[in-house]
Amino acid sequence: MSSVSVSRIREEEIPACARIMAENSLWQHYDVTYESALARFQNGYAEQATIFIAHEGEEVCGFCWVAEKGAFNRSAYIMLIGVDPLRQSRGIGKILLEETEKYLATKSVDVFLTVSDFNKGAQKFYSGMGYKTVGEIPDYVKPGITEIIMRKVLR
Ligand SMILES: CC(C)(COP(=O)(O)OP(=O)(O)OC[C@H]1O[C@@H](n2cnc3c(N)ncnc32)[C@H](O)[C@@H]1OP(=O)(O)O)[C@@H](O)C(=O)NCCC(=O)NCCS
Repeated sequence: MSSVSVSRIREEEIPACARIMAENSLWQHYDVTYESALARFQNGYAEQATIFIAHEGEEVCGFCWVAEKGAFNRSAYIMLIGVDPLRQSRGIGKILLEETEKYLATKSVDVFLTVSDFNKGAQKFYSGMGYKTVGEIPDYVKPGITEIIMRKVLR
């Protein structure tokens, strides 16, 4: 793997993020299309959302979208993290999340996220990164899917 760098999103990177989101089978469960993902990233960018991008060389290979006080208007919240399906399990997500956490640690003592009950791979990824399950919300984003709530103390 060539070196991975992480920086804030630039406008021209929005289509690559939408493609990564639309091509991940996870979000196909939530009926995400390229067009809906594109609109979501365009709106987020316009609202100056905090979105980090992982690059491998010059190419966009992942994104992590966070809200500094997105959990209970108190703690940081990871809204979305995704790596290009063709480049998963090569250490990119770990670098992306570590860099995002360094930033969040300047804003919050802890960070929360939710992960789908069926998404065992992401649950293992988060456990390995130090996240602990603290609860669950049945039928939250979509009927029939339970969102597992995870938390990590950053400092
Ligand atoms: C979850 C995701 C962001 C992880 O990124 P990644 O680049 O594939 O993960 P990494 O290669 O950095 O893996 C880091 C660690 O997590 C583990 N891990 C990652 N994906 C895993 C999986 N599917 N199953 C088991 N372990 C996994 C790795 O084994 C690795 O462990 P190690 O450090 O002990 O070797 C990425 O796979 C992805 O985009 N998945 C689809 C979208 C998604 O589920 N997002 C999360 C929504 S809540």
